Amino acid sequence: MQNPASIDEVVTRLASTGYVCARPLATVVFLALRLGRPLFLEGEAGTGKTEIARALALTLGRRLIRLQCYEGLDASTAVYEWNFAAQMIAIRTAEAQGAPDRKALQQDLFGPDFLIERPLLQAMRPDPAGAPVLLIDELDRTDEPFEAFLLEALSDFQVTIPELGTITAPEPPIVILTSNRTREVHDALKRRCLYHWVDYPDFDRELDILQTRAPGLADTLSRQIVGFVQALRTEDIFKKPGVAETIDWAKCLLALDVIDLSPQVISDTLGAILKYQDDIARIQGSEAKRLLEQARAMPVPT
Ligand SMILES: Nc1ncnc2c1ncn2[C@@H]1O[C@H](COP(=O)(O)OP(=O)(O)OP(=O)(O)O)[C@@H](O)[C@H]1O
Ligand SMILES: [Mg+2]
Repeated sequence: MQNPASIDEVVTRLASTGYVCARPLATVVFLALRLGRPLFLEGEAGTGKTEIARALALTLGRRLIRLQCYEGLDASTAVYEWNFAAQMIAIRTAEAQGAPDRKALQQDLFGPDFLIERPLLQAMRPDPAGAPVLLIDELDRTDEPFEAFLLEALSDFQVTIPELGTITAPEPPIVILTSNRTREVHDALKRRCLYHWVDYPDFDRELDILQTRAPGLADTLSRQIVGFVQALRTEDIFKKPGVAETIDWAKCLLALDVIDLSPQVISDTLGAILKYQDDIARIQGSEAKRLLEQARAMPVPT
């Protein structure tokens, strides 16, 4: 499928997959595709950073390859590994069948049959549908040596496997990196990328997202939910709810057949939007009532 020809087309095509994209984000997505640059998305938890990679792959008809980062992730796990168990079985089988031809066996053991391709290598393989979307998710969870390795991998899109040689991507993948900013990612890596901070959506956009993700929710209740969550985010709490929590909460309220928010319903279901006991204790009761009043005072469209 063709790349979008304009920023508006990015917005409409992402919308057709259920992703509500603000114009500034659509602009960097458009530029990343047009210039072939990796896109670095930083922002609060649950604001749609991971989801945009999925939506983009879907709308472009490309494969999505995800590299989930974690502490201790190293280059070999991200690129390739040898299948030791299968290699051992092959050695045993060769031994059982008589004296093996050592050289041929060694060549076999370090050939494509025993290679386990990890996300970075998979993303460099040719694909008839076009270069895949490579999502490097939650980069802030890895350490600096891995970042340095990525910096190199992202600049030339080739990897060298000593036993097999160098593999180069025929067409660079579309790269999206995300971070929750639990630590700063190195400037050198950021410089390679187009950068965008994914903020909490405003009232209208969050309402739009909610209506897309939780269809069947009455308009008044949707407005109350979004109004309440937006008001909650202005409070001094430890962990503010993301869009994911808004959607979860709406689904809980739907399951409970709630048609109108009340302080009691809010107190009973706060666990869907707040995940820290201190925050829950702080908001429960009179605070919830006050925020609900604030939410009800949100302007209703004419
Ligand atoms: N703009 C949006 N349009 C549609 N759905 C959205 C949007 N933003 C968030 N969502 C919904 O919120 C959920 C959480 O989004 P996602 O997992 O992408 O957040 P994230 O920013 O990657 O969070 P985390 O930092 O916790 O990984 C998604 O499953 C999606 O349904
Ligand atoms: Mg994510």
